[in-house]
Amino acid sequence: VAAEAERDEFRRMNDAKSQLLSLISHELKSPLTGISAFAEMLSENPGGNLTDRQLRQVRLIRRSADQLGLLVNDLLDLSGLDSGEFRLEFKGFSPRDMVVQTAEAVEPIMRHQAQRLELDVKAADGEIRGDPARLGQVVMNLLTNASKFSPRGADVKLRAEVDDRSFRVRVRDPGIGICEEDCRRLFTAFFRADNPETRAVPGTGLGLYIASSIVKLHGGTISVESRRGGGSTFTFEVPRNPPVAAQHAQAALDD
Ligand SMILES: Nc1ncnc2c1ncn2[C@@H]1O[C@H](COP(=O)(O)OP(=O)(O)OP(=O)(O)O)[C@@H](O)[C@H]1O
Ligand SMILES: [Mg+2]
Repeated sequence: VAAEAERDEFRRMNDAKSQLLSLISHELKSPLTGISAFAEMLSENPGGNLTDRQLRQVRLIRRSADQLGLLVNDLLDLSGLDSGEFRLEFKGFSPRDMVVQTAEAVEPIMRHQAQRLELDVKAADGEIRGDPARLGQVVMNLLTNASKFSPRGADVKLRAEVDDRSFRVRVRDPGIGICEEDCRRLFTAFFRADNPETRAVPGTGLGLYIASSIVKLHGGTISVESRRGGGSTFTFEVPRNPPVAAQHAQAALDD
């Protein structure tokens, strides 16, 4: 009986946590949209009367709001995964185009670090089924991680390929690497490695958790091969034609 009461109490607290998470992430969204939109407007100096110093300050507001926006989106995803509201929208799409477009979005970030992205999408022609926006989010997180955790001037390599049965993406970086113990915890929510290089870059440790959830909801797998100081290789693979059930199977996340 005591165990049962404890279980009820746990369930109640867990529900309260989920509700709070959902409330916070939804409520943060609209004021943030206002801040971003007006800061963007101001940064174009419409009245022509802002000083250079004021313009720099407005751009800083905008950049901070954008960063907060990414965090809020991750919290919304986390909340959705938590409550089973997270839904994929499956359709047919070109994995090659998805990868190329995502790479283009990451390019400015990498250029800023004098890093190079080597794309190999020769074998990624054809059509697959899945949620292209969500799979793009997976590729995006792997690429931004590769950039964040590699030195200036590093070469990052992405290879994408499809065969009869699956679509596979491999992202390889020459960066700081990950020790064996951390590799085991990498895909859990809020995990960040406890080292100075990681503390030096922004992030909440939700990216890989969300990425692995998206891959699992497609009926696929994600894995890492790494060694501290020896660079990292992340690979994910999803079926070319995911089972229809995968789209709704929150159960896929429970193992
Ligand atoms: N390519 C990599 N090289 C070295 N360490 C990595 C790499 N990718 C991830 N990590 C480690 O795993 C942690 C979790 O990665 P994850 O993408 O989930 O979080 P993050 O990038 O810190 O924050 P965000 O939520 O913005 O993605 C990172 O903080 C880092 O310690
Ligand atoms: Mg990340």
